[in-house]
Amino acid sequence: MKTVILIGALGKMGQAALSGLGKHKVITAGRSGNVDHIVDITSEESIRNLYKDVGHFDAVVNTVGVCEYAEFTEMTEAQWMSTVMSKMMGQINLVRIGQEYIADNGSFTLISGILNVKPIPYAIADATTSGAIDTFAKVVAYELPRGIRINSINPTVLTEAWDVYGEMMPGFEPVPSKLVGKAFERSVDGFITGQVLFVDA
Ligand SMILES: NC(=O)c1ccc[n+]([C@@H]2O[C@H](COP(=O)([O-])OP(=O)(O)OC[C@H]3O[C@@H](n4cnc5c(N)ncnc54)[C@H](OP(=O)(O)O)[C@@H]3O)[C@@H](O)[C@H]2O)c1
Repeated sequence: MKTVILIGALGKMGQAALSGLGKHKVITAGRSGNVDHIVDITSEESIRNLYKDVGHFDAVVNTVGVCEYAEFTEMTEAQWMSTVMSKMMGQINLVRIGQEYIADNGSFTLISGILNVKPIPYAIADATTSGAIDTFAKVVAYELPRGIRINSINPTVLTEAWDVYGEMMPGFEPVPSKLVGKAFERSVDGFITGQVLFVDA
């Protein structure tokens, strides 16, 4: 049994990840609500406090990455920056700071999303930062010390989120949370590193 910090646990993707972490001690974290630890992944201080408060942990699973949606010609720098600071730098900082605290042979699992390989309108910032996270996971794997692993999960839309995003995504087939949970399980329990785990229909 590993101690796993699950960030964004109350969100839709957090619940998908949780379904794959059944055999572990899961410490939940998020920005608000009924979680074990409150954390804001856009704040380095908040991230450091989370790791210090938890103490020993073997894995970090992040499912947070807030994105702004607009046409490229309409999107402001502020909208770009809020997406970059959450979905890209927030996740990079979880790893950058977390590698100081995580146990030997621990693992990080990050979230991207299928829109960087199957683009749709309005999702340029989500797609761009998802691509950055997939690349980050592939490349930083070579530099992580002490046997630490990293992977990103790149799912298509969840069945559970289809009512929100389905209209924006004609021709897409959603996948159930449980299937996406298996990808998180494979990342945390396997030996793979530097991989992008696609979950698509
Ligand atoms: N849903 C899908 O079908 C799907 C598919 C592929 C990829 N993704 C990606 O998965 C990620 C999560 O999506 P989701 O559908 O799970 O969203 P969600 O249901 O809105 O959940 C997001 C969670 O993240 C928390 N959060 C937001 N900002 C935070 C911060 N700065 N620090 C800590 N926690 C924060 C939210 O807390 P509050 O409630 O307090 O704001 C909420 O619990 C996104 O990057 C999305 O692109 C989603």
